[in-house]
Amino acid sequence: MMKQKPIYILSIESSCDDTGAAVLCDRKVLSNVIANQEVHAKYGGVVPELASRAHQQNIVPVVQQALQLANIGKKDVNAIAFTQGPGLMGSLLVGTSFAKSLSMALEVPLIAVNHMEAHILAHFIENEEQQAPPFPFLCLTISGGHTQVVKITDYFTMEILGETIDDAVGEAFDKSAKLLGLPYPGGPLIDKCAKKGNPKKFHFTKPRVEGLNFSFSGLKTAILYFLQKNTKENPNFVEENLYDICASIQHTIVEILFDKLKKAVQQTGIKYVAIAGGVSANSAIRNKLISFEKTAGWKTYIPKFEYTTDNAGMIGIAGYYKYLQNHFSEQNITATPRLKMNKEE
Ligand code: KG4
Ligand code: ZN
Repeated sequence: MMKQKPIYILSIESSCDDTGAAVLCDRKVLSNVIANQEVHAKYGGVVPELASRAHQQNIVPVVQQALQLANIGKKDVNAIAFTQGPGLMGSLLVGTSFAKSLSMALEVPLIAVNHMEAHILAHFIENEEQQAPPFPFLCLTISGGHTQVVKITDYFTMEILGETIDDAVGEAFDKSAKLLGLPYPGGPLIDKCAKKGNPKKFHFTKPRVEGLNFSFSGLKTAILYFLQKNTKENPNFVEENLYDICASIQHTIVEILFDKLKKAVQQTGIKYVAIAGGVSANSAIRNKLISFEKTAGWKTYIPKFEYTTDNAGMIGIAGYYKYLQNHFSEQNITATPRLKMNKEE
């Protein structure tokens, strides 16, 4: 049989505060460049206007570096994939406009990608350590903007079984961290501090939410009151108990997530279970998922660290599968901040 020619995809991610570009050869990531935006740290959160300006500055050098590291030229690229949404309008516009112009200039197809689908499809990036999950599988997609339990029956056939009715889990981490005086984004710092603390030291009530949906805004308020009460009695309370507070908050979040994930497995009978999104970098969440292999006979899938938080590698793999299906976009496609799954607008 004749070997198929390899497909080179250049992908661009600019949905929030990181500018990413990657080059894939089929399912293999050749380069995956990310420019993190430092400007937001001092504001304690992402400032949309500053984010889009930083994307404009970063996009050309980031794309150039991705091509260089992959050791290919622009002429070798078979298609340009980009994040159409969901995300911040100003940020998405930079990536969308750039991708459209580049596809026109290079005369190659343009492929629009849904950021949330891409987080999940990151599991299909070639990985010598782990096989990709078989269909159908469940994925707990957890990021700064989303918290979803998704049933995936095919690359682009995904059904949301449950999602947050208020804050996303990443927000719960970041807002808790802010209350503790930790810089943005606080999620990774809570993870780090929690490793040295006692997760059972402090108790926070879990929300009661119907079905497979989540809620995290109550936890944030509970933490606020908890800290107000305790610092009144002891002004050094946070300082003296930081590790235990972080461990207890993280423990509560893990319990909330896995109560629902267990329920989803029970309801669907699907035991192939993955996690994806920025918060899936969390060590307690990764360990908890793995523990279900032994205790409940699940087969679990954990993404490599570099494909958890926002990156263009995941946009590239989603682009690759669309390329195989000849699923291309026209030049009149627009950035869509509230893009839904399984939809292109
Ligand atoms: O997927 P992502 O990079 O961006 C969005 O699409 O939102 O997710 C970013 C979120 C932030 O809230 C960040 O605090 C959180 O992921 N995060 C973590 C960890 N690493 C990143 N949260 C908890 N533990 C971590 N290790
Ligand atoms: Zn994301």
